[in-house]
Amino acid sequence: MENNLVDAVNKVDQAFLFIFGVSFAILFLITAVTIWFLFRYSKKRNPVPSDIEGNVIAETLWTVIPTILVFAMFWFGWTGYKALREAPADSMIVKVEARMWSWKFIYEDGRTSDKLYVPENTPVKLDMTSVDVIHSFYVPAFRIKMDTVPGMQTYAWFYSGEASQYDILCAEYCGTRHAYMLSKVVVVPKEEFIKWVETGEADSEKPGGLLVLEKHGCLDCHSMDGSEIVGPSFRDMYGRDVTVLENGRELTVKTDGEYLKKAIKDPAAQIVKGYEDMMPPADEMTAEELETVIEFFEGGMVMEKKGAKGAKIAENEGCLGCHSTDGSEIVGPSFKNMIDRKLTAEHMGKKVEVTADIRYIIDSIKNPDDYVVDGYDGGMMPSYDLSDEDMKALIEFFSTLKDE
Ligand code: CUA
Repeated sequence: MENNLVDAVNKVDQAFLFIFGVSFAILFLITAVTIWFLFRYSKKRNPVPSDIEGNVIAETLWTVIPTILVFAMFWFGWTGYKALREAPADSMIVKVEARMWSWKFIYEDGRTSDKLYVPENTPVKLDMTSVDVIHSFYVPAFRIKMDTVPGMQTYAWFYSGEASQYDILCAEYCGTRHAYMLSKVVVVPKEEFIKWVETGEADSEKPGGLLVLEKHGCLDCHSMDGSEIVGPSFRDMYGRDVTVLENGRELTVKTDGEYLKKAIKDPAAQIVKGYEDMMPPADEMTAEELETVIEFFEGGMVMEKKGAKGAKIAENEGCLGCHSTDGSEIVGPSFKNMIDRKLTAEHMGKKVEVTADIRYIIDSIKNPDDYVVDGYDGGMMPSYDLSDEDMKALIEFFSTLKDE
């Protein structure tokens, strides 16, 4: 069964490789023959051109061989096409809604997300449409590229395979932010998928307001960092005085909770000066979600839970490959309860007792071999020259790993 499922990708590749191979062979052959003819039939060697009337063998060959090649190309293309179009009957169904400039995935239970979460080793059928213009759902890894068309349903399917992440792109020019209409297919182990369906755990690191903004695709047009995308940035949005246009009249309003709710639900009513009337009203945002978003703005958009930034750094710098966060041993000491742990270490050739206070931890990150903790090998850890800010974030992360 599984072999049939990965077949689509293989068949598309076969068609590509066959056509590419044939084209390359012909290019090579023609070039070689041309060069050979230049010498063999040059004027010097053949002062009198010969007049050839006909050659049955040559004529038959150059008719039959290309015909076979063309039919073979068709056969590879056709089987690949069929494999891409025939979704297995037991496929998990996800609806895809494209809009300028984000993807929305709607699952069988009504859940939505801006990334496509699927369980591993599962055939997934995507029923797709667009709410505005034509986009094209493109996942190179699965060899699928299908237009999404307003007022029409198209589909594609793929076999998710092992847990991993794959890029989703828009392959049909759809306006200013076309190139940024990106997302991911996130293939997770089956148990994790069930957990995600039940609890939304996958995004538990993020505050609720941010999740709502992501879910409804707001961040594709509004930045969080003050930069301009299409609409005004969310940064410092709350509690400002802005000039808006209402029925052609200019007026100044305060961006408080009331104003922001209206701006989200009925964006066309008051357009902030300098921007165009482009935003679709967030009809699908529930009253509860709306409150969460307003709270998020009001609270200064605190982006992450305590320590989340440091956790990201630890992950991105590769620290977690050698240091666990749960007390287990990998290569180096665990980060769990690391702060203020009492250690015996070798320092300048002598055994010393130290306390892993903040100064010690910073020193150990910058000069890992300054103190080599008993039971571990020196010379294993590269030194990291992190900025003060990153160091601070890391320390904060470690402090969240400390039992009270
Ligand atoms: Cu959507 Cu290009």
